[in-house]
Amino acid sequence: MSKSENKKVASYAIIGFGHIGQALAKAFARNGIEVSIATTRDPESFSSAAAAIGPTIIPKTLAEAVKADVIFLAVRFESHSNVAKALPDWQGKIIVDVTNAYGVPPENLEGQPSARFVAQAFRGGRLVKGFNHLGAAVLAQDPAVHGGRRVVFLASDDDSAAAEIAALAENLGFSPIQLGGLSEGGLLVQARGNSWGKLIFKDLVNFD
Ligand SMILES: NC(=O)c1ccc[n+]([C@@H]2O[C@H](COP(=O)([O-])OP(=O)(O)OC[C@H]3O[C@@H](n4cnc5c(N)ncnc54)[C@H](OP(=O)(O)O)[C@@H]3O)[C@@H](O)[C@H]2O)c1
Repeated sequence: MSKSENKKVASYAIIGFGHIGQALAKAFARNGIEVSIATTRDPESFSSAAAAIGPTIIPKTLAEAVKADVIFLAVRFESHSNVAKALPDWQGKIIVDVTNAYGVPPENLEGQPSARFVAQAFRGGRLVKGFNHLGAAVLAQDPAVHGGRRVVFLASDDDSAAAEIAALAENLGFSPIQLGGLSEGGLLVQARGNSWGKLIFKDLVNFD
């Protein structure tokens, strides 16, 4: 068997099929990449919305969807802990944290970057923060714009997980920029209380 035949193709899921979940699903559909989608609801209830995006968008139950290797977390920040309960252990899986802790008082995060807080809930998982700085309407667009590619920022304490998601971002048509670890890069693109990431709106926020 050749090396390429031996290499397992990763499976993908998006948890949450609201504004961001649907925007991400469009990127997968545009590139013919299969992705499962799940919410708290019966998959039947969003099957026609999924079919309207494309044939590679597969509605599933949450329990089925979390069997994927790479899981995009596209739920409200407050719901992340409910999703985390879907598995006792997230060992071997990559969680892409697309949530923004907008409106969440920093003291509720126990002094941590929001992505670290999320990572704690997904015990054993490899967390990559990313795709979270674009509004859903922009994220939904074809990222090939103005002769270039729209950027997505990635941050992780796990270099190989970050590299895997960077490769996926490229396959989805984006230009990934690695920002380093969650405590450094993650903080640059994180909503904090009612303010926003330093890197994005650097003149508007006070992080002190
Ligand atoms: N909207 C934006 O422009 C934008 C931009 C960047 C980042 N974000 C971040 O992306 C995340 C999603 O935002 P959104 O605007 O897409 O929110 P949304 O439209 O309210 O969608 C949230 C989705 O999560 C699902 N959900 C809620 N609890 C769940 C659970 N326990 N298990 C599985 N699915 C669950 C909901 O489905 P049901 O309730 O029907 O089950 C719904 O499909 C948020 O953290 C937000 O801060 C949003």
